[in-house]
Amino acid sequence: MPQTVKPVVISDLSGYRFKNGGPVCCVEKAFSLIVSGADVLDALVAGVNIPELDPEETGIGYGGLPNADGVVQLDSCCMHGPTRRAGAVAAIEGIRTPSLVAKAVLEQTDHHLLCGKGAQDFARNLGFPIEVDLNTAKSRGLWLEWKRRVDAQHYLDPARKDRAGYEIALQMMWEGLIPEGSFWGTISCHGIGPNGAMAGMTSTSGTAWKIPGRAGDSPVIGAGVYVDNGVGSAGSTGRGEANLYALTSFFIVECMRRGMHPKDAGLEGLRRIKANTVESRLLNSRGEPAFNIRFFVLNARGQYAGLSMYASGETAFAVCTENGAEMQPLEPLLPGSPGD
Ligand code: GLY
Repeated sequence: MPQTVKPVVISDLSGYRFKNGGPVCCVEKAFSLIVSGADVLDALVAGVNIPELDPEETGIGYGGLPNADGVVQLDSCCMHGPTRRAGAVAAIEGIRTPSLVAKAVLEQTDHHLLCGKGAQDFARNLGFPIEVDLNTAKSRGLWLEWKRRVDAQHYLDPARKDRAGYEIALQMMWEGLIPEGSFWGTISCHGIGPNGAMAGMTSTSGTAWKIPGRAGDSPVIGAGVYVDNGVGSAGSTGRGEANLYALTSFFIVECMRRGMHPKDAGLEGLRRIKANTVESRLLNSRGEPAFNIRFFVLNARGQYAGLSMYASGETAFAVCTENGAEMQPLEPLLPGSPGD
């Protein structure tokens, strides 16, 4: 029996802030397509294309912050609840909209995840234009600033170099040079249509200055996104490695399956991540996680929540309903900020 649900689209704040010079943001676009009868995943992808293409957004798609070699490598994944299908790409270069390639993997292959050159070749064969460089002047300039700071220290051994590179990147973030939403920048978008059809998707340039070839949580089903059509959809932004360790989006959907509200399920996911964070390099002076991570959670009844590890940094998420697009507050697990 088809359900009757009030349609809703939620995402992190990039789905509200960026319009790529147009009239609407991601959640508005996706919502308007859903209510006009479009497939829920098609609608989310059309929405996510807006921040992917926006040159001002430095954590997603075109102009995303590059890897340590200065190359923009993108990750994306999507799940379509009604058909139980999934598709993803990791470390793909030269294509501004990895979300469209992830959807093509879902629709046109027997696979779930294509990586690197194979993913790019797949896209080229489908007619996607391949660009030599997805940097903008802004993303290249920030990478050059990172390089200047790193190289000035003349590293003596690889371990020291790796640690210093990460610390300098964090320093640039705390100084406000890089928005926190860009360092681990990602769009995580989820929607439900009036018939109960659900989908979820991510798109990201991953952690800034990452080791070339690094794939984060965003292209991994169960981590970046998990959708079970009768239960709910969850996805994340923030430090991907913390999420990958416990496949937290899957865990959150399983919590909803046991009856938890999206807010309680998301907080339970954050508690799991906090419990798994035991390495001293990942802990702040209070012994708590030295990073932020957020989850966006929607259930099959159309109830939703946005959760974050900390109260600081981005404090809101994007929602679009019949009342239009708006920001709503994120629910933090911990007070203060990761850097305290
Ligand atoms: N959550 C984005 C990343 O870690 O790549």
